[in-house]
Amino acid sequence: DLTEEEMIKRVKQIKEKFGRRLLIPGHHYQKDEVIQFADITGDSLQLAQAAAENKEAEYIVFCGVHFMAETADMLTGEGQTVLLPDMRAGCSMADMADIEQTERAWTKLQKMYGDTILPLTYVNSTAAIKAFVGKNGGATVTSSNAEKMLRWSFEQQQRILFLPDQHLGRNTAYNLGVPLDKMAIWNPLTNELEFDGNPEDVIVILWKGHCSVHEKFTVKNIEDLRLAKPDMKIIVHPECSREVVAASDLAGSTKYIIDTIEAAPSGSKWAIGTEMNLVKRIIDQHPDKEIVSLNPFMCPCLTMNRIDLPHLLWSLEGLEEGKVINQIKVDPKTAEHAILALERMLKHV
Ligand code: 13P
Ligand code: SF4
Repeated sequence: DLTEEEMIKRVKQIKEKFGRRLLIPGHHYQKDEVIQFADITGDSLQLAQAAAENKEAEYIVFCGVHFMAETADMLTGEGQTVLLPDMRAGCSMADMADIEQTERAWTKLQKMYGDTILPLTYVNSTAAIKAFVGKNGGATVTSSNAEKMLRWSFEQQQRILFLPDQHLGRNTAYNLGVPLDKMAIWNPLTNELEFDGNPEDVIVILWKGHCSVHEKFTVKNIEDLRLAKPDMKIIVHPECSREVVAASDLAGSTKYIIDTIEAAPSGSKWAIGTEMNLVKRIIDQHPDKEIVSLNPFMCPCLTMNRIDLPHLLWSLEGLEEGKVINQIKVDPKTAEHAILALERMLKHV
């Protein structure tokens, strides 16, 4: 039972001992108590790129969620071991598409559309889904390259199945000019297309998944804020619904939000619609600006928050004793195909 100060001291000691043999990547949604030890911080794209580029770390203690650690495992080489300090750090969105549902959907969609459809998956998905997409000619996307990757997909095929976040898929396709009435929902529970018109008219099929954090930002939040603070600019993540994105001033990935606030003039006023730990950090880093969360109750990602200082220390103390706790290892067959999807993305960004 160490105090916080003692835990901090121990983490520092172990990090020093391992030097560059140890890498701690930290996603922007992680808590400050963890982020303070991150060797690199970033959004999911930056962390994937960092994993792919790092050749010297033997141990990668990933401070983020399960699908990110899987990606890091697939993009690192022989002799590099990825650990997740708490196995309960999953992602409810990634869990909304399982591989059996996806294969069942694909069989039906191929009957409907033949070879005119390409699967794309948000990186927020399991390695098995990435492998499915890789095998079928598609790619992964992140929130910061979704537009580019959707454009790439339309060069290959006339239709897209977008997994598992309907909102990122809808918002991105809309920005590229796809009309909303040419987008349908795929319901994995009924294994049916939800669409009012002729299925032949559908261009984008959106998997019925969402982020439980970003869905908490509502049009009502925006209306309340416009009344209370009419001069405040609203910026949200594209995992928010179409209605929320449409009613906001700006929308973009985690990196886009950080960069936009960074570049904004002193004294500017912002309401941010994204994860709580990041919003709090942005507020702390910009005392010269007035910044609030768009949802006044703040919106934490509970699974991101499972990685805390005690779990990080537990992971590191294990390594110090020569034990690898909670290794994330994607089986080679899955990895072989998933890497195809990841590489198609990394080549384009
Ligand atoms: P990005 O890091 O790609 O913005 O994704 C946000 C997110 O929800 C991560 O889980
Ligand atoms: Fe998943 Fe949303 Fe949490 Fe990101 S913020 S890990 S998408 S639940």
